[in-house]
Formats: sequence, C-alpha cells, structure tokens
Amino acid sequence: MSQGKKVSIIGTGNVGATVCYWLSMRKRCREIVMIDRHGVVAHGKALDILQATSPEGSHTQIYNSTDYAMAANSDVVVITAGSPRKPGMSRDDLLILNAGITEQVIHEVRKYAPNAIIIMVSNPLDAMTYTALKAGCYPRNQVIGMAGILDSARMETFISQKLGFGYGQVTASVIGGHGDNMVPLPRYSSVNGVALADLLSDEEIKEIIEQTREGGAEIVGYMGTSAYYAPANSVVKMIEAIISDARAIFPCAVLLEGEYGYNDIVNGVPVVLGAHGVEKVLELPLNLDEQKQFAKSINSVAELLEILRKNNFFTV
Ligand code: NAI
Ligand code: 2OP
Repeated sequence: MSQGKKVSIIGTGNVGATVCYWLSMRKRCREIVMIDRHGVVAHGKALDILQATSPEGSHTQIYNSTDYAMAANSDVVVITAGSPRKPGMSRDDLLILNAGITEQVIHEVRKYAPNAIIIMVSNPLDAMTYTALKAGCYPRNQVIGMAGILDSARMETFISQKLGFGYGQVTASVIGGHGDNMVPLPRYSSVNGVALADLLSDEEIKEIIEQTREGGAEIVGYMGTSAYYAPANSVVKMIEAIISDARAIFPCAVLLEGEYGYNDIVNGVPVVLGAHGVEKVLELPLNLDEQKQFAKSINSVAELLEILRKNNFFTV
C-alpha cells in the first residue's frame, strides 16, 4: 500500500540521518531524499545508508542534494534543519536562530512539495511548528510537530525501570509543549491495562514525572549533543502512520483551534494521524491540576511566540 511513497528529510545531521537509516531498514517507502546545506557530508551519509539497505533486501532508494527541487512530489517532509542543543543551552536559546532557518526551509519546501505533510523536529519544537505553519500558510492538518511520542517513550522507559518489570508493556501519555513544562499524565498511563497508581507510590510517580521532563537534558549532559535514536524512532512512527493512512492515535504538537480552550497556539495533544496528516484532534478530559499544568505549558510557548513576533516573525 505504501510502497510508492517518497519522504524527504531536510537536515541530515544526527536525527535526520538516523530517520533515513531506520526508515530505509523498515522498507516502507520507495524513495528517501536527504537535503542539507552541507552537501558533501550528506552525500557520504546517503551512500553509507544506501549500502546498508542491500543486505536487508530493502528496495528504498536514497538520494541527497542541496537542491530542494529533489523534494518534489514528496508525500512527507521531515524538517530537522537547525542547530542542536549544546550542554548548558536551553531549547529556548535556539529560538531565533532556528526560526530563521525554519522559515527559509519552509519557503523552499512549499515551492517544490506543496502537498507534502510536514513533520517538524527542530527545537524549540512547538514554536518551530507554529513558525512553519505561518511561514507556509498551511492548514493545520499539514504541519505536525514530533515530541509527544518521544516524551511518552521516555516516560514509559522510566516507569519500567522503576518497576523492574512490564518492559515493553507500558503505555504512557505526555501532552503539552516539548519543554520543561510538558505535562506527563500518570492518570492516562498504565502497564498492560493496570493503572500506574496501583503499581507505584505518589512519590515514585512524582520522580518519574521529573525524570521525563529532564529526559532530553539528561542525554545532552552525557553525550554533549542531543538525543537522536529515540527521536528518529518517533519520527518514523509518524511517517509510517501517515504513508499507510493508519489513523493511529499519537501525541503530537499541533495548532489548537479551540480545543482545550486555546486558539492559535501549538501544543502537544493526542491526534489521529493518517494520510491527511492530522485527521482529528482529541480532547482528553483533564482534571483541574492537569488543566493548570497544560495552561502553564501553553503560556511558555506563547512567550516564545511573543519573542518571535517582537523579532518580526509572522508579519505576513
Ligand atoms: P545536527 O546538528 O546533527 O543536524 C542538523 C543539520 O541541519 C545539520 O546537518 C546542518 O548542516 C543542517 N542545517 C542547518 N541549517 C540548515 C539549513 N539552513 N538548510 C539545510 N540544512 C541545514 O542536529 P540534530 O541532533 O540532528 O538535531 C536537529 C534539530 O532537532 C535540533 O534543533 C534539535 O534540537 C532538534 N531535536 C528535536 C527533538 C524533538 O523531540 N522534537 C529531538 C531531538 C532533536
Ligand atoms: C530532546 O528532547 C533535545 O528536544 C530534544 O532530546
């Protein structure tokens, strides 16, 4: 069903190249195009990954270029172009730099692949997703930020580590922005249907929430650059849901249009992903405390957008 699909990846650094590698191994699409401003390095990566496909019997063809015309007719475009976090650097420090790169990339993508579903990865994620939406004048179904799957995967990992059992059986839910104010939802998390509150104490659940919020920074601290295996896996899950029209529920960063009481702001919420990108935005019933946390997360994204507005973004 999805054999003829084309995916382009803009920015072929750690996350972009890992998406290319994992997607080609999964044999889900016909063509992957890797575009980066550093063409020679991207060429080497494309060739290296292509040479890994043959022993796997993968038919996926991999191309690279600095020219966005190569992205024409893509079904999905993944944008990782930008600068990653360095130790001691907050996601917000990247704001102005990556917003400029996002605008420039979106103008090219819009020109050559106007119908592609865009998956944003560059940080700060929610603000970059908003920037992409506005820069390309896209409808909200077409631009989706990746973060919720990653943050939920981190929470699932910390839950199974804390329990010492249930590995691979944990389902966790994290909504809100991809930042310090993300909203892990223990009430919507379980181990093969057993509620978290029946397995762990309040104190232990609190620790897991903190670990989840710090999950990205923890890895930056160890590696000197940000994570890419789990982020790439999360991106591939989104691509596969879109190109196979799976209509699967995932937490993703999307433009809210009245849901949860908010308008014209991007935040992470559960959505149905299918061939049109966001097929539906789901509204979870939140209790008072969860609503307060969500509001805090919305505010932190709104502050970033305000900084961008003051720096002349979103003027057209
Ligand atoms: P990286 O530095 O390894 O790769 C970035 C690539 O973008 C480089 O190859 C660079 O040459 C390219 N690039 C920069 N400006 C460009 C432009 N104008 N046009 C084309 N290519 C350009 O970084 P990494 O680790 O792959 O991270 C990429 C982005 O994703 C960062 O902003 C990082 O913070 C973010 N990130 C987001 C996650 C999420 O959960 N949403 C998870 C992990 C990373
Ligand atoms: C992460 O959470 C840095 O956003 C990136 O790993």
